[in-house]
Amino acid sequence: MKLISSWQAPSNIAIVKYWGKYGIQLPCNPSISLTLQQAKTETKVVAQDPDSSQDNLQFFLDGERKPGFEPKIWALLQLLGDEFSVWKTKHLRIYSSNTFPHSAGIASSASGMAALALCLLEIECAFRGQEIDDSFFSTASRWARLGSGSASRSLFGGFVSWGNGPGLNSNLETAAPLPNPVHSVFQGMKDAILLVDQSEKKVSSTAGHSLMNEHWFAQQRFKQAEAHTDQLIQILTDGDVEGFIEVAENEALSLHAMMMTSSSSYVLMRPNTVAIIEEIREFRKQSGLPVCFTLDAGPNVHVLYPAAYEARIQPFVLELVQRYCAGKWLYDAMGAGPTKSITQL
Ligand code: DP6
Repeated sequence: MKLISSWQAPSNIAIVKYWGKYGIQLPCNPSISLTLQQAKTETKVVAQDPDSSQDNLQFFLDGERKPGFEPKIWALLQLLGDEFSVWKTKHLRIYSSNTFPHSAGIASSASGMAALALCLLEIECAFRGQEIDDSFFSTASRWARLGSGSASRSLFGGFVSWGNGPGLNSNLETAAPLPNPVHSVFQGMKDAILLVDQSEKKVSSTAGHSLMNEHWFAQQRFKQAEAHTDQLIQILTDGDVEGFIEVAENEALSLHAMMMTSSSSYVLMRPNTVAIIEEIREFRKQSGLPVCFTLDAGPNVHVLYPAAYEARIQPFVLELVQRYCAGKWLYDAMGAGPTKSITQL
């Protein structure tokens, strides 16, 4: 018997950052992210009876076998244990492709692990003859987290939390959408991703997280993230755009400050990252328009602004793209979460 499942899952950009983990992929602090719309991974998993001439796990990216990705998937399957029982009797072929170029310097682990978790869970439900119920996306979030922490948040649309905090529906194991409705000013929020440098990361996120274990400022950083989480929940409910700018930029710079003060220390920002940050702050001061930045664990700049200001802010963004990024950027916005795929990979 062959079982097949296909899903598309989006990437997300954290506003309050997850940085530092313990135990089995548990976060040291709560985080809140914005789910994206355009940057997605599409995955198809085929579980079939073993064929002794084939490896029992095969991963294909854009149709090409990529054994380099397989150890991470193996690790996830080990962690799932009996929860994913299909693995005991079937071989897995995983076909994946991203809507954004691999060379863009945008991490595909969040969307990739989210799409994979959805496929594996759907196959397991079919195998056990279980209906898909309301807990499906929460369980997929927990499974995705075991593959990559930030992936736990890609299972839901809009603003999503992961971790513990007053008034949050998420916990350490599973992400969840924010409980209160988000103010209309933040609906459809834009994220223009300015590709400053597309080379491979010098230090992986996993290595970066582990540097928090011995970090001088770790405890204060975790407290700061908790406070920012509380503040951001209120900011998003109230439609407080100024508050959003303050928290988003402070979080981005705090994340990079942690990297710059770890032992050993490292710098992922490039000169053009800093130049763009300064341009955004100057433009905001001069124009009074609500545009701000955030950063991932890399040199690229995410320019965030409410959809209503698109006509006045986009020309400025395009100027930055030409001046600092040789025309390279990704245009994205708030998205609604994963969808079941209809296309065949
Ligand atoms: C800076 O989720 O990539 O993007 O759990 O080791 O896979 P692993 O790390 P990962 O870390 C993401 C860190 C971040 C902030 C965030 O997304 O919250």
